[in-house]
Amino acid sequence: MQNIEAYQKSFITYLEDFAVEKEPKNLYEPINYILKLGGKRLRPVLTLMACEIFDGNIKSAMDAALSIEVFHNFSLIHDDIMDDAPLRRGQKTVHEKWDLNTGILSGDAMLILAYKLFENYEPETFQSLAKLFSKTALEVCEGQQYDIDFETRDDVTITEYLKMIEYKTAVLVGSAMKMGAIVANASIEDQDLIYDFGRYLGIAFQLQDDYLDAFGNPETFGKQVGGDILENKKTYLYLKTLELGNEDDTSTLITVMSSSSISNDEKISKVKALFNNSGATQATQDAVEVYTDKAFNILEDLNISSNKKQLLRSFGEYLMTRRV
Ligand code: IPE
Ligand code: IPE
Ligand code: MG
Ligand code: MG
Ligand code: MG
Repeated sequence: MQNIEAYQKSFITYLEDFAVEKEPKNLYEPINYILKLGGKRLRPVLTLMACEIFDGNIKSAMDAALSIEVFHNFSLIHDDIMDDAPLRRGQKTVHEKWDLNTGILSGDAMLILAYKLFENYEPETFQSLAKLFSKTALEVCEGQQYDIDFETRDDVTITEYLKMIEYKTAVLVGSAMKMGAIVANASIEDQDLIYDFGRYLGIAFQLQDDYLDAFGNPETFGKQVGGDILENKKTYLYLKTLELGNEDDTSTLITVMSSSSISNDEKISKVKALFNNSGATQATQDAVEVYTDKAFNILEDLNISSNKKQLLRSFGEYLMTRRV
């Protein structure tokens, strides 16, 4: 077993060989740009880690890990278009650096490239991976549509929100791990357990993403801080403010969010103050812990050594305290 940095390193070496110059430039340059922009590489690391946890060889998991990372980066290109986001990993988003059409088509090509990587597996493994991938990718689309639908709804519940983030974010984290287990020929029971472990971590991860979107450090966060507020996203912070805030807080929140007469900066700072005063900020951090603990509870049922459990646990702890 390796540590997180070692998995990242071997994955990046593999990615470098994949992201080579090709024609037409305007299709492939944006693909290589986003893939080489950095990022934490969490999902491919989880694929490699899961493969080794179930005694597989990480080399055999590289294409699955790459597929997951290519799909993730495809979803970011289209997500940034949908969220009107200017910044990604501290640099211009693809549709800002090129244009909208480029973002759409390069994204489409990446989705196909992600799927194509499964061709490198034997038929039985190919089928399992492709089946999981199709289910997951469709769920991500469903989650993304809920996220957009919620922008213009004012009656979104916490339950609906949790389902939305499970789909848009968590199922991919679960699948990243399950793919590692599939490649390693783990039992179906273990495949499902590791999927659930990843799914719970993914929910915690998106809750933390909501928190950082408002309270991250603009110097290091890499995305536009306050972007969710400007886009009217129904985040956990927002929904909890409506639930926990007093009447004054909730009516101010609704007025400020829909106001077009105040500047973006003023809107962001007013809304953040409401998140804090209502207790929603604390509630969000508590929820990150709750879902991380749900993931840790799954570990008890897994038939793996305590060293391996500890590695998965430290990954969860690292995610909980992340600032980017
Ligand atoms: C961003 O994912 C999209 C979400 C699901 C919140 P990451 O935070 O993993 O992005 P990178 O790949 O590290 O940039
Ligand atoms: C992203 O959710 C989910 C997907 C890309 C599928 P966000 O919209 O919160 O992700 P960021 O904050 O832009 O990275
Ligand atoms: Mg976004
Ligand atoms: Mg989004
Ligand atoms: Mg976000």
